[in-house]
Amino acid sequence: MRVVHHVAELRERLAGQDRTVLVPTMGNLHAGHLALVRQARAAGGPVVASIFVNPLQFGAGEDYGRYPRTLEADCALLEAEGADCVFAPDMAEMYPEPQTVQVLPPLADELCGASRPGHFQGVCTVVLKLFNMVRPCCAVFGRKDYQQLFLIRAMTRQFNLPITILAGDTVRAADGLALSSRNGYLTPAERAEAPRLYTVLRDIATRLSSDERDYPGLERAARDELAAHGWRVDYVSVRGQATLLPPTGDETALVVLGAARLGNTRLIDNVETGLRVAPGA
Ligand code: PAJ
Repeated sequence: MRVVHHVAELRERLAGQDRTVLVPTMGNLHAGHLALVRQARAAGGPVVASIFVNPLQFGAGEDYGRYPRTLEADCALLEAEGADCVFAPDMAEMYPEPQTVQVLPPLADELCGASRPGHFQGVCTVVLKLFNMVRPCCAVFGRKDYQQLFLIRAMTRQFNLPITILAGDTVRAADGLALSSRNGYLTPAERAEAPRLYTVLRDIATRLSSDERDYPGLERAARDELAAHGWRVDYVSVRGQATLLPPTGDETALVVLGAARLGNTRLIDNVETGLRVAPGA
């Protein structure tokens, strides 16, 4: 496995390849990232994992400065997982000049965007740059970052990018907590509390699949339960899978999304659910 820091080296390494599969990451890899690499390998072509902590997607006062940077350990994990190449550009390679042209996706002020202004603009901009640098045929993203996956799919379609977006299921700890680089910020007491986010979202999904339709009531009860256990809730929201908008009644598939803070750590999760179609409908 080669570790390259410059696009020119990457091009050399990938010369003649047209089946490259990209797994974009910010490093500090865990089993969730590695599952995406395995999925990428199954697609057949050479697998490039990128590692870049993207300042454009962090707001003022967020954790850009303290985000864990563990390149050496990440490379060892990627090598063991069979990645062909790690692309770890530095700031000068990614942003040689101020990034005054950026991608403004839809829903940028909704859900996670409401509490993280500019976040999805930063994500879509760096992902478009990575796509142009690596020129993959496929790229793999996790369902854990549901809104991110949705917006990258929309960008890829609407900009006619010749890239297939593959989605990987959320990898969880045994107690249900979605793996995240940010879980490392949790104190032992917070870590013990953290699985509740998944539990309340799953509970809503179960109720939806048994025909409950009082979305605001379900969302409010979940927010209250989290708040009662010391969380500061950004949102709990039921959305249509196809649009990521509040349900209008025409959906056949919903997703329950949530983001909430324990101490200084912001966690997100989501649960997809189908809707029972009435007999004869
Ligand atoms: P990062 O948080 O490092 O995540 C990289 C990829 O791993 C994303 O596609 C994310 O959805 C996926 N992932 C994270 N936790 C996961 C889990 N528990 N199970 C499955 N997949 C998981 O997301 C980013 O980086 C950045 O925004 C990026 C797309 C790299 C742009 O900077």
